[in-house]
Parts: sequence; structure tokens; C-alpha cells
Amino acid sequence: MRCVHKITPQIFWVGGNDRRLERFENMFPLPNGVAYNSYLIMDEKTALMDTVDSSISALFLENLTHVLNGRKLDYLIINHMEPDHCANIEELLHRYPDMKIVGNKNTFQFIEQFYSFETKENYFEVKEGDELSLGGHTLQFIFAPMVHWPEVMFTYEQKEKILFSADAFGSFGAISGNLFSDQTDFESVYLDEARRYYTNIVGKYGDQVQAVLKKAASLDIRMICSLHGPVWRESLPYILDKYDHWSKYEPEKQGVVLVYASMYGNTENVMNLIAGKLAEKGVEDMRMYDVSKTHPSYIIADAWKFSHIVLGAPTYNMGLYYGMQAFLHEMAALRLRNRKVAVVGNHTWANMATKSMLCELEKMKNMEIIGAPFDIKSSMKAHQEPELNKLVDDIYASL
Ligand code: FEO
Repeated sequence: MRCVHKITPQIFWVGGNDRRLERFENMFPLPNGVAYNSYLIMDEKTALMDTVDSSISALFLENLTHVLNGRKLDYLIINHMEPDHCANIEELLHRYPDMKIVGNKNTFQFIEQFYSFETKENYFEVKEGDELSLGGHTLQFIFAPMVHWPEVMFTYEQKEKILFSADAFGSFGAISGNLFSDQTDFESVYLDEARRYYTNIVGKYGDQVQAVLKKAASLDIRMICSLHGPVWRESLPYILDKYDHWSKYEPEKQGVVLVYASMYGNTENVMNLIAGKLAEKGVEDMRMYDVSKTHPSYIIADAWKFSHIVLGAPTYNMGLYYGMQAFLHEMAALRLRNRKVAVVGNHTWANMATKSMLCELEKMKNMEIIGAPFDIKSSMKAHQEPELNKLVDDIYASL
């Protein structure tokens, strides 16, 4: 049975949710599912903004057919050619053989890389700033390369002032009936997942996000329709401000996230001591993660959120414990920067953990090391407490 939402009198949400998928991109856990949004404009010409993932094709096609109500689809706008939004192009071509596929050079290159169907005669190539009239509605194309792939573009509908923003402003988390962000408690339901989505999926491309935010600033935007998560029709400055912070790699919060690897609990013990001593000084709302327990996407999201990171790990294989090595590699790959970092190393006979962590941090921009790295040999001893207290003082002073 179809399940559609009316966004405006002539624009409809025809997407769907997947709450069964374990991992997005087979990598990121989805405890609350994910929404694949697709939007249909019904005007003198009909235009669909992207399709959906193959997992929900049947419902999507039912939604689309219902809203079209016997009309044909004139345009498929491909804002993003990643398969979670493009799984239905071939089926749409079977149903609507005259449909024009609107995209740019990269879009068509990627169609041909992913799929094998013959479709060149359906291509309708647009360039930055081009406009396409549907009758009362006019679409304007704004290229947004690397937000999140090279072919990405935003489509701005001029009459109703809607920005169809591809992955940008999206979130993990299925939609529970309330399609609009103002219909739900966004901060408690979606914000953490929106941050985890942004930082892990788009985080590397902060400069490109900044560039497209500048382009968007010249538009009068009344609604933002992303390909994932809720639609924004109120409080647009709120989500624009989040994106501004995230893409500038600016922390949202002065605070501490502690991230550790620990084989026998001794490194963990030091991390608990640091957190406890900071708490005694009045530091609130800290987070602590074991890299062997928590999926890195959650830790990355909080590393983005907080101003201070405390890292702790043992030496392993004459290098760094794998989980911490992988986490730091991911931080560098996503280009996280502008954080204050304290380092705790542990070793039994070869002191490599601290060196390795410092070496990884050197690969990142503007990471300030707080105080002197704190080393323990197998376990912390009482005589080291003054040294640890000094590190805690340094962390506190830098907050
Ligand atoms: Fe939702 Fe980059 O695809």
C-alpha cells in the first residue's frame, strides 16, 4: 500500500524507510534505520528528484505511480548517482521511455559505470546555473561537487523556494511518520545521527561543503529536502549553522571525549582516573569510548563535537593497538582538525604506543598536544599520580 506525504500542493514525498538494513554502505550501523527520500513535482511537466535504494523499490514505484495518477514521468533529476538513490533508473526507463534523465557529465559517466542499459538518448545534460521550466515551477541546478561525490548537484525550485540538497543536511534514522523536522524533537531523535552521518560520510569534504554553503547563501530558501532524514521547513538557520560548524571542523562544545584501547584494563584504568579527576574539577558531560567496543562512526561523531580528545592505548606488535591505529587513520582520512589532544601510552617492554599516536596526530591539521604525554609501564603506579594530576590540570586549564 502506497505511503506518500504532501510537502506542498504540487510536491510529494514518494520515498520510504528501511529499518531492516544492518549497516549503511555495509559499514555504518543503523540502529534507527534510514530513510531514502524521493520527491515528485506535479506541474505541466512532472519531475522526480532522485529515486531510492533497491531495498524499497516496490513501495517507491507504488508511491510514484499513485501520485502520477496515470500521467507519465517527464524528468528524472539525478542530484546524486550513488546507488542508494539510483537503483530504479532502469525500471523507470521501462515505464516511461521518453523520460529525460537530467544530470551532468559526471552523472552520465557514473550511470554507465554502474549500469549496462542503453539510455544515451534519454540524457539531458545541464550545466551550473541552468534552469528547467516545468510550467509553474522552475528548477535551477547548483553543482555541489564532493558533497558527497563529484557529480552531486543541488536543485533549487524557484517558485516554492525549495532546495533539493542531495545527501547534504541528511541524517541516519528512518522517518516515523513525521516527515518535517519541526514535527519531532530533532535534537533528541536525530541530531546525533545527523552528526554521525555528516562526519563519517561527508566529513572529509568540509571545504567543498563551505563552498556550496556560500552558493546557497545567495538563495532565498524556505525548505530543504535532503535525500535522507527529515525535511526542513522551519528553523533552517539551525541546521545551516550545524553544517557551518561541522564543515569548518569547529567543535560544537567545549568538553572532553576520552577514547581508549585496553587489553587488560590498565589503560582503561588511567582513562577512568583522568575522567574522574576532571569531573572533580567540575568538567561535565564527558564521553568515554573503548575502540574495541564502539563502532568508530560514533566515536568520530563525538570527536567532531567536542573540543578536547584524550587518547589512550597500549603498544601492540611494536606499534599501536590496531583499534586505535584504525581510529586515528579514520580521523586523518576525514581531515578532522582543530582539536586539543592529550595522549596516554602503555607498554610492557617497547614504548611505541605514544610515539605512534603522536605520529598519527602530526598528520592532521592544527592538533594541539596538551601537556606531556603520560606513559605507564603495564599498569599505573601510585608514584605516577602527581604526573597524571599535572596532565589533568593541563587539560582543565586548556578547556
Ligand atoms: Fe545517500 Fe552519498 O548517498
